[in-house]
Amino acid sequence: MKQLKKVLVILFASVLLVACGANNAKTDGSSGSGKTYNVGVAIYRFDDNFMTLYRQELEKYFGELGAKDGNTYKLDIQDGKQDQSTQTEQINNFIAQGKDVIIANLVDPTAAASVINSAKAKEIPVVLINREPTPQDLEIWPGKTTYVGADATQSGTIQGEMIAGLPNKGDINGDGKISYITLMGDPANVDAQQRTEYSIKGYEAKGGAVNLLAQPYQANWDSAKGQEFTASALEQFGKDLEVIFANNDGMAVGAVTAINAAGRKVGEDIYIVGVDAIPDALELLKNAQLTGTVLNDHFNQSHTAADVAVELMQGKDVEAYYWHDYVGVTKPEDAELKRVDARKETIAEIKVRYAERG
Ligand code: BGC
Repeated sequence: MKQLKKVLVILFASVLLVACGANNAKTDGSSGSGKTYNVGVAIYRFDDNFMTLYRQELEKYFGELGAKDGNTYKLDIQDGKQDQSTQTEQINNFIAQGKDVIIANLVDPTAAASVINSAKAKEIPVVLINREPTPQDLEIWPGKTTYVGADATQSGTIQGEMIAGLPNKGDINGDGKISYITLMGDPANVDAQQRTEYSIKGYEAKGGAVNLLAQPYQANWDSAKGQEFTASALEQFGKDLEVIFANNDGMAVGAVTAINAAGRKVGEDIYIVGVDAIPDALELLKNAQLTGTVLNDHFNQSHTAADVAVELMQGKDVEAYYWHDYVGVTKPEDAELKRVDARKETIAEIKVRYAERG
């Protein structure tokens, strides 16, 4: 018995020693036996609500990965300041510095082909995020370039279905249709184009009829612009305005300020839906000041982007598309963040899906 105790004590002490050793290796700043990887991250604009959540989660997650695998992931994160030439310069610097991978949230998605071509010339893989490239872009360097994101048609559809699912289908004045406006994000962004189109398709697919009061307002994802355009629409259309589709929560939050200032009441004489599920929107939802939003899952998107980047840095080939689903949110709990696997899609598969979509 004594002998066994002795063995156990020795065993326990050696486990402790090993654990401390491992710990030291990490806290003293060295990478231990692990490798150091240099990751260039180009963000389209730092002062974007959604991309700020995304960026912070990405940084945090790379830190967690490093703590787990003993490697050091050195992130160089650049602010493209919504200017493609500034961002192109930043990406060219990443390439010149020989980063191990580039994660890019492009200012202008049409820059994808030239970014991929430049990176390919120096054999630096690219993970595109947030702004969907075309399949042709990803065909330039298959296996070494990829898109991690969410299908924006889904977020629009969910918005439309959310309004159609209201007891009065959003038709406050009972004239058989909803009179609506759309607050549109950056018109060059696929997310903005598809949400604008599919919110209406989603509503119509549920049997609803619509009356467009004005062409989409170009509020560029921006809260102040969302407020400004909504204030003028409320003034112009008065009680006729029943539903506001906002391409993101930033603009929806601005719109709610204008709605309150005009003495209108969300859920009683007007409805408004956004996308992203940012904390400000969830707060409004809690207080019944927002009809609903759609979770744009920055948590899973950033984790998958990092995981795929790691695979690429290990020299592996990856799939062309990694998708995370949008989730309808009518109460704050719906936006709970939990890790789920991405859905993968090949270039051939996406081409078929696009063709079906028409
Ligand atoms: C988000 C917006 C964000 C935009 C940036 C979209 O997916 O919904 O909130 O401004 O991405 O590209």
